[in-house]
Amino acid sequence: MQFSPTPRELDDIELIVSGALPGPLNAPGSPLTLDLPSPVAAAAAEDGAVEIVDPEGLPLARVTWPAGEVTGLSSPAYGPFRRLYLTPEQTRKAYAGRTVVPVTDALTTPEIAEIAALGPVLLLALVGHGTPSLSPVALLRATLLAAEALPDAAVVAVPLAAHDDPEIDHALGVAVVEAYAGGDPVHALASGTSTEPADYTEAIAAVIDHDRPAPEDQGLVVFFTGLSGSGKSTLARALMDRILEQGARTVTSLDGDVVRRNLSAGLTFSKEDRETNIRRIGWVAAEISRHGGLAVCSPIAPFDSTRQDVRGFVADAGGAFFLVHVATPLEECERRDRKGLYAKARRGEIPEFTGISSPYEEPADADVRVDTTGRSIEDALDDVIEGLREAGYLDL
Ligand code: ADX
Repeated sequence: MQFSPTPRELDDIELIVSGALPGPLNAPGSPLTLDLPSPVAAAAAEDGAVEIVDPEGLPLARVTWPAGEVTGLSSPAYGPFRRLYLTPEQTRKAYAGRTVVPVTDALTTPEIAEIAALGPVLLLALVGHGTPSLSPVALLRATLLAAEALPDAAVVAVPLAAHDDPEIDHALGVAVVEAYAGGDPVHALASGTSTEPADYTEAIAAVIDHDRPAPEDQGLVVFFTGLSGSGKSTLARALMDRILEQGARTVTSLDGDVVRRNLSAGLTFSKEDRETNIRRIGWVAAEISRHGGLAVCSPIAPFDSTRQDVRGFVADAGGAFFLVHVATPLEECERRDRKGLYAKARRGEIPEFTGISSPYEEPADADVRVDTTGRSIEDALDDVIEGLREAGYLDL
């Protein structure tokens, strides 16, 4: 059975394959875990192992299941600055004898001065999903710029995912840095407790600015969810008109009914097909946000876990995700029944109809909740526009 892991899981696998986790941390029951979706886990249990592949299907590692022993098959070949990702062994061969400095954020000018006094150094850029505020590629760009400003500095990238557990993250960090240092001195930078604004070189400041665009320059996905007939499409349409009238941005619409006529043609309303439909919408919307664009989505999207997937796709693409729950109650949607679908569903002519014979999971994480009962569209839209303005994403 093959499995393509998330970037965070891939970081864990890479750490083990590169031998960065010596001793007990690299054993079954170690703090690194691999969550397999249940169909994959069932197949893996039957085969006794699962093969980890990269997004293009290249086998990277074999993991016995459920024992969790990892054997490396090949290193990931893609990704910016791949050449900087060395194993501990390659690192010691190339850079033994240097003072090792773990780096988790863009280096400030005082930190660069502090490092300059250490002699030849190896900057170990701990890139991963927990390294605070910079994306992995920006952390590497900033660290390379710092290295240029130092008399003798080399840079090595180490994938180090965070696991939302400070104790585990600390133990992993220490073990990984020790594996790369191999006995050379390790210099820990005093962590930034100062309340002064950080002082960066001009070049490093530019890397940070580019990596963290202001909210109004960020890609944005406005995602309306709610029952059929709740007013999602109407609100979405009205929002887009306002955006187009203002003329500052272009916008792509991903409406439920429209997507089902093209991108998702042929899909049914089974739970599985609905998930596929929403993940497709989310994938396209995230790609739009990657380029600073604006996507307005308006499918039912009845399942919380699929909406969370979309939130994750957009975050990974560097976009902002704004969830609007169009919370018009079922009775009102059914009373309107503009397409006559509720009547058909009640008569049993449409199986698995949301709200009647298929569930709708109310979001607990909506940025705006709007019930359109007894309100004009303009009035309801004002709530959405106000929420977007408050969040700093759009000022219409
Ligand atoms: S979703 O569940 O996959 O998000 P989507 O928004 O694409 O649904 O499609 C919903 C639209 O399809 C509804 O507005 C309605 O017009 C139509 N439809 C047809 N069959 C169903 C059904 N069984 N449940 C819900 N909507 C349906």
